[in-house]
Amino acid sequence: MLTHVQLRKKFAEFWKKNNHKEIPPIPLVPQNDPTTLFTGSGMQQLVPYLLGETHPLGKRVYNIQPCIRAQDIEEVGDNRHDTFFEMMGNWSLGDYFKKEQLTWFWEFLTNELKLPKEKLYVTVFAGDKKNNLPPDKESIQIWGKIGIPENKIFKYGPERNWWSRAGVPDNMPIGEPGGPDSEVFYEFTKIPHNKKFGGKCHPNCDCGRFIEIGNSVFMQYKKLPDGTFQELPAMNVDFGGGLERITMAIEDKNDLFETNIFVKIILALEKLTGKKYQDNKKEMRIVADHLKTSIFLIKQGVMPSNKEQGYILRRLLRKASFNLHKMGIDIKQMFLLDELCQRVIETYGDIYFDIKNDNKNITPVIQEEMNKFGKALTRGMSEIKNTPDNELENKAFYFYQSYGLPLELLEEIFDSQNKKVNKIKFRKEFEKHKELSRSGSAGKFKGGLADHSVQTIKYHTATHLLHQALFDVVGKDIRQEGSNITTERLRFDFASTIKPTEEQIKEVEKIINNKIKESLPVEYKIVPKEEALKLGARSFFREKYPDMVKVYFIDDYSKEFCGGPHVKNTSEIGKIEIYKFEKIGSNLYRIYAK
Ligand code: ALA
Repeated sequence: MLTHVQLRKKFAEFWKKNNHKEIPPIPLVPQNDPTTLFTGSGMQQLVPYLLGETHPLGKRVYNIQPCIRAQDIEEVGDNRHDTFFEMMGNWSLGDYFKKEQLTWFWEFLTNELKLPKEKLYVTVFAGDKKNNLPPDKESIQIWGKIGIPENKIFKYGPERNWWSRAGVPDNMPIGEPGGPDSEVFYEFTKIPHNKKFGGKCHPNCDCGRFIEIGNSVFMQYKKLPDGTFQELPAMNVDFGGGLERITMAIEDKNDLFETNIFVKIILALEKLTGKKYQDNKKEMRIVADHLKTSIFLIKQGVMPSNKEQGYILRRLLRKASFNLHKMGIDIKQMFLLDELCQRVIETYGDIYFDIKNDNKNITPVIQEEMNKFGKALTRGMSEIKNTPDNELENKAFYFYQSYGLPLELLEEIFDSQNKKVNKIKFRKEFEKHKELSRSGSAGKFKGGLADHSVQTIKYHTATHLLHQALFDVVGKDIRQEGSNITTERLRFDFASTIKPTEEQIKEVEKIINNKIKESLPVEYKIVPKEEALKLGARSFFREKYPDMVKVYFIDDYSKEFCGGPHVKNTSEIGKIEIYKFEKIGSNLYRIYAK
């Protein structure tokens, strides 16, 4: 049986053989995309290229992208949901189209992975009359030629067989690319259909008999301001297949947590708790998934906090703690967690971690957070126990605020004491405190909708000017830590060992505006990475770059590794004002400009 490590190799070899170049994954916390907290699909870094920019590696690329879908936190606990997953992807940027893509993917599944043909089903786009989008007859024909019998080709509307980052055509913002897609499903023949989900089973039935293992999106449209759809300059393919789901198909196991991706972690949990997975599935799945996601986040520099990514990390760790607690573990015991974290790291070995050293930095962060939470949990639970029934019902929000116990945990704790949370009251108080909007997490679960409006493009070029000006004025050791652009403003985080003075910030602002006034041309070149580094081009240290990179030049003032897009001339930017400068951590600073 192929392990996930071997599956990766096969995937890479297959696309290389078909003349594709590998693109490195982008960080889990994406840069320049304020609309999402995490990278949620492999195509996120390809948006500019799907819209027509030139990719430095050419028209055929592939990769394996770690992703987090924080909106799935509540779903974890069943046989297949996870918050961290890896998406295997391949792209045609205006090169091949439907015929090659469907034929290749089928070949990969059946020849390389040797999945039994009789267990595979396909789905295609049935059309969307309302938006004047035709059914995808071509894909039906191609599948037929490949040899899929008609009764295994299913047609669905836009809810199922249309893909854009915003979902169905109606929800797409202006300028967003999208298109019909064609999915392949694997059938777990051992799982009987559950009539609760409908009379007849079919690939998109939710009973669990089928699982989707790959989605070929034909990115051929862009939404126009009048709401209609225009064909893109080039026909693109955006393929994504979950490494975890394909693994489930390879092993013919309909429980992700029993595959080789999770087995070490689950075994360590059984050892730690002295309990059997079979009797504690839900709790063990939650702990395994949430710890894994937390480890990946901490490795990428995220720390528990009350904001944005840090808040998600905190929620994950609190939920994991609570579920460990439910299995009788005293979460304050450091050495217990050490082994569990090490098993996660070993599962991914040198793909993402330094097996010998990473855990030394990761476990203490988890431990400290769990420890704090463990104390709050103990105090909170005892107060809940001692609160009279008639008062308790209305006090969920109080416990949330005083002890940091999230609602889902409160519900579980109340439930275990045969009490109920008054959810309406909780929501009301919650709204009043605007907790969610302060945490910056509201609405940011959708996954990447960075717009390429004229204003954000201007800010993007201004950010390059800012980066270089900081370098020149503050010092050569400044290091970009993050960049975040909306249509309203740009935000730039950087590390510096010396605190920049007010005068220096004023000087930086002056330089940016001078460079804008000088009307400098903005151009890019595609060069080997080594050459770009030799040129001294600015790069982002958390990002891995491919062998060939795109470097944007603002005349001879700034050079930076970047996919674009940018303005053509700095004069287009207009005046820039730095309106806020603050310290956000030790040696960490943040600038806002508009
Ligand atoms: N981008 C497509 C997806 O996420 C392939 O499903």
